[in-house]
Amino acid sequence: MTNFNPENMKKILCVFGACAIILACNNSENLGSTQDDSALVKQTGLDSLGMSSTTSTQTKGEQLIASSDCLTCHKVESKIVGPSYIEVANKYEESDQNIEMLAGKIIDGGSGSWGEIPMAPHPALSVDDAKEMVKYLLSLKTN
Ligand code: HEC
Repeated sequence: MTNFNPENMKKILCVFGACAIILACNNSENLGSTQDDSALVKQTGLDSLGMSSTTSTQTKGEQLIASSDCLTCHKVESKIVGPSYIEVANKYEESDQNIEMLAGKIIDGGSGSWGEIPMAPHPALSVDDAKEMVKYLLSLKTN
């Protein structure tokens, strides 16, 4: 870096200040009845920055489970066909080994851990997605 010059710094701050004022004026114009589709597109562009209210409260694993068939056989708090997710979470430590093992079980299906009823296989799921699901499940631990 060259010599630090406080005069330059002041100029930079002034430029920033001016930009902020210009931006603020532009925004308030958009609030009028001139708001059209392109303004809406700009607003919904916030989604891609992860700032949308629907994605911030749900983890990826929770979304994956909600969009798969899991909830027809599992509920968070009570047993249906398969064990409740809280039961599963309380049974297993949140270790890499268990996450891998349970992700494999979601993809391949299987029985014997909770009874004779088998778990349906999910061959279309990627290992990474299955692991996200398991991480969410194990986060429900209550003990
Ligand atoms: C057709 C019903 C059914 C569906 C659909 C289903 N499960 Fe299961 N699940 C079961 C049953 C039954 C068991 C108990 C299997 C056992 O005893 O080993 C089980 C067990 C599990 C276990 C614990 C495995 C173990 O070894 O302890 C996890 C984790 C799990 N399911 C996650 C999921 C996820 C995630 C989905 C969605 C992708 C899903 N399940 C969809 C029936 C189902």
